[in-house]
Amino acid sequence: MSIQYTVHPSGPLSGTLMIPGDKSISHRAVILSSVANGISHINGFLEGHDALATVKAFEEMGVSIARPDSEQLIIKGVGLYGLKAAKEPMNLNNSGTAMRLIAGLLVGQRFDAALIGDDSLSKRPMARIIEPLRQMNAKISAHEDDCPPLYITGNQSLKGIKYALPVDSAQVKSCLLLAGLYAKGMTTVIEKSVTRDHTERMLTTFGYPIAVSGSTKTIQSGLSLQSAHVDIPKDISSAAFLIVAALITPQSHIILPSVGVNPTRAGIITILKKMGAKIRLLHERMMGAEPVADIEVSYSVLIGVDIPHELVSIAIDEFPILFIAAACATGMTRLTNAQELRVKESDRLTAMSAGLTTLGIHHITHSDGIEIEGGCFQGGMIDSYGDHRIAMAFAVAGLRAASSITVLNCEAVATSFPNFMILMRTAGMHIQADIA
Ligand code: S3P
Repeated sequence: MSIQYTVHPSGPLSGTLMIPGDKSISHRAVILSSVANGISHINGFLEGHDALATVKAFEEMGVSIARPDSEQLIIKGVGLYGLKAAKEPMNLNNSGTAMRLIAGLLVGQRFDAALIGDDSLSKRPMARIIEPLRQMNAKISAHEDDCPPLYITGNQSLKGIKYALPVDSAQVKSCLLLAGLYAKGMTTVIEKSVTRDHTERMLTTFGYPIAVSGSTKTIQSGLSLQSAHVDIPKDISSAAFLIVAALITPQSHIILPSVGVNPTRAGIITILKKMGAKIRLLHERMMGAEPVADIEVSYSVLIGVDIPHELVSIAIDEFPILFIAAACATGMTRLTNAQELRVKESDRLTAMSAGLTTLGIHHITHSDGIEIEGGCFQGGMIDSYGDHRIAMAFAVAGLRAASSITVLNCEAVATSFPNFMILMRTAGMHIQADIA
């Protein structure tokens, strides 16, 4: 089954719109609750395919997870050493976060495990976790030492390491910190650039100490996690599609309540403000360990910018929709130092370039970035390459195109933003989904 979206030029967008829960935080809430002592309560959980794959994996390892109501989980933690071997390989579908974080936890268990994924996940690089995990004495292998499936042999005595991350990746950092829960001595990870720090914040929520000194994060084994109550903020990466949709559609004005604005995630807001976006963060407050705000967005005349290097890793998931904003801006937007975009759910530089070409937007791609000249979208038919964020980005472009845009292979939108179409319709977009 293949879903295609057709979007007709439409708008303005208006209303107060509830974005679903944060994907990164949802994964971490399930993982840490599962290995904590006691019963944890989670609210605002993202019921997308990715986070649900994490729930299923822990159920397969013997954790009891109840879903009393929508977006709520009650998880009976089994403690750091209470997981059991799954009977079959655990299927993490499309989720790199699930695979890399769970692998970190599994190398410290007393049983063997196998992790598999869908076609997209099966092409994503795992050497970045395999290499440091092996330095910790983990026994882990993969197809050609890089791509899933991952095979993990348990019962190894892990040792802590000091590791300078060669790539900007919160998934690799988190994988090693989770392995560090089981490693003799201290595990230290040093970041090159700032990446999302949800794992660090949530470890503290579960009562597990982690030492953070600038870019150096250190964890020690031998302690335990205590159950917690976690309220999950709305996902800024999903909010980004509505933010840009409102910015590029004349007369739009929207409010997005309770969105996570953790400074290690909120690069999109800084970049859009540099482009002239009218965005206000209202009622800034804490939701547990995470900062949130109600985000107010009004239609704005955007200008092209050079994206500063230090904002790349803290806006890494938002570039597909930022390219749509750049295409609607006056002048050039330049992005460099973003080679990680080539190893996401698709090669996002190639996928975006193909779609921008179809829509008549002048641009030049480089190995690590892109230059986009603002222009006007023509209509057309676009392949999302099965990547949720490419699909949603081009659907948003449809608001401002000369004629309708059809986006193919949109099934993966359900991984992160299951009610995308309904919410966009509520806001004022003319979007329909057809099964092809
Ligand atoms: C994530 C980290 C990022 C991001 C992904 C979610 C996480 O990946 O792209 O969508 O939850 O830790 P990398 O760590 O590969 O940059």
